[in-house]
Amino acid sequence: MNTVTASLRAIDKAHHIHPFTHNDAMHENGAYIIDHAEGSYVTDDHGVRLLDGLAGLWCVNMGYGRREIIDAISAQLEKLCYYPSFFNSTTEPTILLAEKLHSLGLPRLTHTLFSNSGSEANETALKVILSYWLLKGQPRRTKIISRTYSYHGVTLGATNLTGLVSCTKPFGLPTSGFVRVPGPYHYASGSALSPEDFGKKCLEETETIIKCEGPDSIAALFAEPIQGAGGVIIPPAGYLQGLRELARKYGILYVSDEVITGFGRTGSMYASEAWDLDPDIQCLAKGITSGYIPLGATRVSDDIATTLNSGGYYANGHTYSGHPVACAAALANIALMEKEATVPYVRDEVGPYFEQKLLALKAHPAVGEARCCKLMGALELLDHGQKVTDPTIGLGPKVAALVRKHGAIVRGLANLIAISPCLNITRAEVDELFASAQAGLDEFAAG
Ligand SMILES: Cc1ncc(COP(=O)(O)O)c(C=O)c1O
Repeated sequence: MNTVTASLRAIDKAHHIHPFTHNDAMHENGAYIIDHAEGSYVTDDHGVRLLDGLAGLWCVNMGYGRREIIDAISAQLEKLCYYPSFFNSTTEPTILLAEKLHSLGLPRLTHTLFSNSGSEANETALKVILSYWLLKGQPRRTKIISRTYSYHGVTLGATNLTGLVSCTKPFGLPTSGFVRVPGPYHYASGSALSPEDFGKKCLEETETIIKCEGPDSIAALFAEPIQGAGGVIIPPAGYLQGLRELARKYGILYVSDEVITGFGRTGSMYASEAWDLDPDIQCLAKGITSGYIPLGATRVSDDIATTLNSGGYYANGHTYSGHPVACAAALANIALMEKEATVPYVRDEVGPYFEQKLLALKAHPAVGEARCCKLMGALELLDHGQKVTDPTIGLGPKVAALVRKHGAIVRGLANLIAISPCLNITRAEVDELFASAQAGLDEFAAG
């Protein structure tokens, strides 16, 4: 290790607490420091080049180093580095992005509120929902439903929504009023039912919980189309439509958290549109700018927008809501997606190829289940051929470290690895990614 990077690690240890990290354990070897990146590859400070099978954190959809996005950011910085959207003001890229998001799908969602992250997009949705029901004269509707294994972020409201005990327990959350219903994680349940019947059982339990809580006390239901950080849980056929129907039946607002699935990852611009979910609210972040600049967006229906506006002064928003540089980055990112026909590429070409390669690993002795929807996949890991259910055993991080040794980054989560690369990954890179995954799995199985 050269002295510059050694001292960087020492400074990191002395002054930086990393998110979602065992900080003390990490500092025994020092943090991974990524120095530069191009396309689907990142290079660390030792010069080791790795194929990024997680697109940063499910976000660098158009790949690293894209000139068009960088130039749009620079041009916007030169022209107008910042101006708020508070107090009757805004900027051109902010307005144009709100229109663009509408034109990309889910036309019932006419208006957008901007923020800076996926957590804030959900946090904004929560406040909009509370305000909406007050303005509608239904102040009793305050409870919020979300599902076990869901991940909606880390701000206080978003943590309350998140159905992963590892995220809520350290903070003594959730607070009252946040209600959990079962997420359709068939593999983890160990249920003998078929996935479809298990999905129906989850829906029955959800309806029982709604009735028990009192339907007219429930304000909204939040759901990711595919539960990402909870384990890439792909819903069984019919389940999501059933969930949507339940919300409609009881007059509950349906919020689709598309922070990961938005912008092409599952082969459609918005998964909610492809799966006909017709949400009342959609939350976006990550792929909206391919991660080049932070940006969150909460899209709401015309009814919600009209109701909110009827309340007069809207006392919510961040200094950087609708930041012109972030919005310029998003516009350039979306223009690039359109120019390169990224969504059809994921849907018809690289997505099916990636699925085929990932699902083939089901036959590996260390794999208990393989799940995939276009460029979002997961492999459940076996311990010497045995299924493990305790998430703290942590086979995922162990295998992810082995895969990294063999040249690729995947995400270790509980007892699985998640793989979700840049959307413009080539077939040859997909081959390379799965060669690294296979080598990591082989080493794990041999251990
Ligand atoms: C579905 C979903 N919602 C919300 C979030 C939170 O986004 P952020 O980390 O940008 O706050 C994430 C992050 O992974 C996510 O996957």
